Amino acid sequence: MKTTNNTLRMPLIGFGTLITGATETISATRDALDAGFRHFDCAERYGNEREVGEALQEGLSAGGIAREDIFVTTKLWNTNHRPERVAPAFDASMKKLGLDTLDLYLIHTPFAFQPGDNQDPRDQNGNVLYDRGVTLLDTWRAMEALVDSGRCRAIGLSDIGLDKLLPLYDSARIKPAVVQVEAHPYLPETELLEFCKAKDIVLLAFAPLGHGMKPGPLDDPIVSAVAARVGKTPAQVLLAWAVQRGTALLTTPKSAARARENLDVTALPQEAFDEIDRIQTRQRLNDVVKTGSPGFIPRSP
Ligand SMILES: NC(=O)c1ccc[n+]([C@@H]2O[C@H](COP(=O)([O-])OP(=O)(O)OC[C@H]3O[C@@H](n4cnc5c(N)ncnc54)[C@H](OP(=O)(O)O)[C@@H]3O)[C@@H](O)[C@H]2O)c1
Repeated sequence: MKTTNNTLRMPLIGFGTLITGATETISATRDALDAGFRHFDCAERYGNEREVGEALQEGLSAGGIAREDIFVTTKLWNTNHRPERVAPAFDASMKKLGLDTLDLYLIHTPFAFQPGDNQDPRDQNGNVLYDRGVTLLDTWRAMEALVDSGRCRAIGLSDIGLDKLLPLYDSARIKPAVVQVEAHPYLPETELLEFCKAKDIVLLAFAPLGHGMKPGPLDDPIVSAVAARVGKTPAQVLLAWAVQRGTALLTTPKSAARARENLDVTALPQEAFDEIDRIQTRQRLNDVVKTGSPGFIPRSP
């Protein structure tokens, strides 16, 4: 469990719902709940909040699990940054998820796109149409109002660097509780992590397994050698490293066996942790942080 600066308790290992296909979303979410995941990361942009909500509702009642026992996040998409669009976008997500209150609402990226129903607005040359008429602070004020309304327990940001986080943090009336960014041994985000620790913000790492890409952290020779030595899988080693350095994390196992594997995480011996810390390879796998355009969005089946 991680406790945020507003005393919210978040399970350290979260299940990410960036999954292609309705059937796959439902079965992977049910498998994750059954395996013991209690933290679910969703987004308007993933286009599957309804399926995640359905799987959660069914799983909660079948397993006798209370709503309060799970932690649910969803995210405001770039086309809804105008303050007057924030509450309607929140309400739409809540309706799809079938929830009355949300644990955490994140601004998905700091980039405002042209408002409207088209989630990926582009000009005739294929360039993203940004919205210059709204600032991140304008959007944040509307997020703060959601917390004031009592329907959302905490708010935060995603795909943001310190350059944009610092001024927002200074101006925020309600401080961000969570910052969600790509983080793994090839992109440790050490400076951002230090800032978050100093301010009691939870750094929530996505792509802790490097989005499963190979080559990538999952088949890194140092990670493989540590895994063989400690009798764990490379995935378990990467997840343990993420937890031990003080982040929470999101992972997206798509089978029941992998869901159990990814929750079966135990601390690494200090020398193994240090060895992974010393990996020098540097690679960002997802460029969403640079443009606001997601690298990995499921296509409709
Ligand atoms: N804020 C953002 O912009 C943003 C961007 C991306 C993701 N996210 C969030 O972060 C979540 C995590 O996604 P991710 O891609 O970053 O997750 P990840 O866990 O780093 O990578 C998922 C990949 O790892 C593989 N995998 C999972 N468990 C494994 C295991 N035990 N052994 C070997 N391979 C394994 C999966 O393979 P299979 O498919 O074969 O199971 C999949 O290809 C997303 O679902 C989403 O909620 C947020």
